[in-house]
Amino acid sequence: MSVAMENSTSSDPTAIARLGALVEAALQASTGGAIGTDPDLAPFAAALRYPLAAGGKRLRPVLLLATVEGLGGDVQAALPSACALELIHTFSLVHDDLPALDDDSLRRGLPTTHIEFGEDVAVLVGDGLFALAFRLIAEAYETPAEVRLAVLAELARATDGMVRGQYLDLRPVANPDEAWLRKMCGLKTGCLIEAGVTMELALAAADTQTTESYMAFAAELGVGFQIVDDVLDATSTTDTLGKTAGADVANERSTFVTVLGLDEAQAAAERSWQKTEHLLTALPGNPAALAAIAELVYHRDR
Ligand code: IPE
Ligand code: IPE
Ligand code: MG
Ligand code: MG
Ligand code: MG
Repeated sequence: MSVAMENSTSSDPTAIARLGALVEAALQASTGGAIGTDPDLAPFAAALRYPLAAGGKRLRPVLLLATVEGLGGDVQAALPSACALELIHTFSLVHDDLPALDDDSLRRGLPTTHIEFGEDVAVLVGDGLFALAFRLIAEAYETPAEVRLAVLAELARATDGMVRGQYLDLRPVANPDEAWLRKMCGLKTGCLIEAGVTMELALAAADTQTTESYMAFAAELGVGFQIVDDVLDATSTTDTLGKTAGADVANERSTFVTVLGLDEAQAAAERSWQKTEHLLTALPGNPAALAAIAELVYHRDR
């Protein structure tokens, strides 16, 4: 092991706020125009904006921009991709909360979209955010067409993986074990987190070693994110989370906590953090913002 591998990567604690502000401004600008101004559709436009405006950590778009910084790319050019990824994530939350799935009434500190606007409208809000996401990238005309196509393919692949993971969550195998949990979480949560890295890799034309090291980092971060989410569901409060604590037991979900027990789930989170820290040291470029994101993922309270 080289000396560099033994040192921990220095983290830029200001990066998340800095990149998050860029994401907020770009989301405002891009969704404003795309959502439209037809007065008959004004209530639907309000419903589309509602789950986005509620906020959230913006982890995936910030991860995408941090990857851009890591690889020395152009942050401005990546903003449509970053916004698109947040739109897909928000769509996944709106549908995840529906009565047919997790039947949740609180999200991002507010009543869920179906509680506020009705279940029929919430289904359409999810569909609408999904379509808008792909439009944002397709219509980023300053980016060469072949690059837009590569980024779209990554986002589509990740969205497909998320949906498959949600299926496994709803219809688990009879005796789920840790390997199955990692597979299910790698799909339902990991895919959209990995997309923050792979969409930028598609833009950056990175060499094989760089690509592999960034992808390995993102894959562990994605699974680790869900392990921590499962632990927080069991240990935190609804007020802190901005979503209902204890939802996994109520819904009889197979999670790291319900399958392995809280102690083992916390140990799995710790192992994942150590692995992610190690993978960070192998990233070429400037991974300071990525290191700050990794710290947030494993040491957050919501
Ligand atoms: C929640 O994701 C859904 C999971 C994949 C566990 P986040 O915890 O990133 O939700 P927001 O975006 O901050 O609301
Ligand atoms: C959902 O996982 C992951 C998605 C694809 C939305 P959870 O059901 O655990 O997410 P939360 O806890 O409701 O945010
Ligand atoms: Mg769910
Ligand atoms: Mg849920
Ligand atoms: Mg959860």
